[in-house]
Amino acid sequence: MIRTVVTGSGSALPRNRVTNADLAEKVDTSDEWIRERTGITQRYIASDDETTGSLATAAAQAAMENAGCTIADIDLIVLATATPDRTFPATATTVQNALGGKGFPAFDIAAVCSGFLYALAAADAMIRSGMATRAIVIGAETFSRILDWEDRTTCVLFGDGAGAFIVEAQDVAEDGPGLLATKLHADGAHGNLLYVDGGPSTTGDVGKLRMKGREVFRHAVGNLAEVLREVLADAGFEPADIDWVVPHQANARILDATARKLGLPMEKVVVTVDQHANTSAASVPLAYDVARRDGRIKQGDLVMLEAMGGGFTWGATLLRA
Ligand code: ACO
Repeated sequence: MIRTVVTGSGSALPRNRVTNADLAEKVDTSDEWIRERTGITQRYIASDDETTGSLATAAAQAAMENAGCTIADIDLIVLATATPDRTFPATATTVQNALGGKGFPAFDIAAVCSGFLYALAAADAMIRSGMATRAIVIGAETFSRILDWEDRTTCVLFGDGAGAFIVEAQDVAEDGPGLLATKLHADGAHGNLLYVDGGPSTTGDVGKLRMKGREVFRHAVGNLAEVLREVLADAGFEPADIDWVVPHQANARILDATARKLGLPMEKVVVTVDQHANTSAASVPLAYDVARRDGRIKQGDLVMLEAMGGGFTWGATLLRA
């Protein structure tokens, strides 16, 4: 059967590492408060010469190296971001040009923290319909540029970074590798719980991130547990079959609560929020790449990706590595 198979992953972080203690020098907060409420100990913040596009390009390059392919083998780029370099053109086209590619489709997807799962689903659909054969799917963000550094309830939670997958059509056995099931959801009724208060067609400027943290937390745990069950049922697996969960890294407490709801031990959950904070659309491919490189995710493992973000949007994908 033809399936979309993940054949490589890569990631990139800005040079500048900012610890909680560094942050406490300019924001009214403390290492203790941030660690206790979120599990975050540090994050990476882009310097002036680093952009969503440059981080995405570096992650894509690393993913191509891991997959053993070059830009000449690629015929699609889908990039998930809520912090594009410019309103247009799509950052995916900037990345295509930086990688030396030309001609094939390249576009951005905006679904905030769930963006990478939406992008992966779009690439998967295009691959299975025959519109593409090998794609770079990227999640890349520079949330530091839309943070209100005067608002301690949000600015301590986020970081910058990028992650990428190479996905391609392969003829595989039933129990072989590939994307097995995906479910995506959105509910625009909650658009005022997590949003950016600007935009080209309203204020004319970029705006800053605003969030009602407690309410987001409550919705996140319920929605994620439900979509994970949906995807498992769709693919005919039980929670106990999962080797690794690679969740969107919003907050260690959300990861804990979701794992508990599904009866999954935390040893099966890949956690990078302590090191990277919340990197929005970048967090799932970044965490996947970390766990693949350190040898946790191995060929044949059953891996669940899941995310929830502004909109709300949420979703999950089950894959065999
Ligand atoms: N440092 C020190 N004190 C702080 C800080 C800070 N950075 N931020 C808030 N406080 C204070 C508040 O002022 C408040 O003080 P008060 O009681 O004197 O008024 C106190 O800490 C408690 O504030 P709450 O907002 O009620 O804290 P809460 O326990 O809800 O934790 C948090 C806040 C961490 C944001 C939590 O609600 C949360 O994790 N929400 C999930 C949101 C999330 O992770 N969103 C990410 C994007 S969405 C996604 O990716 C799924």
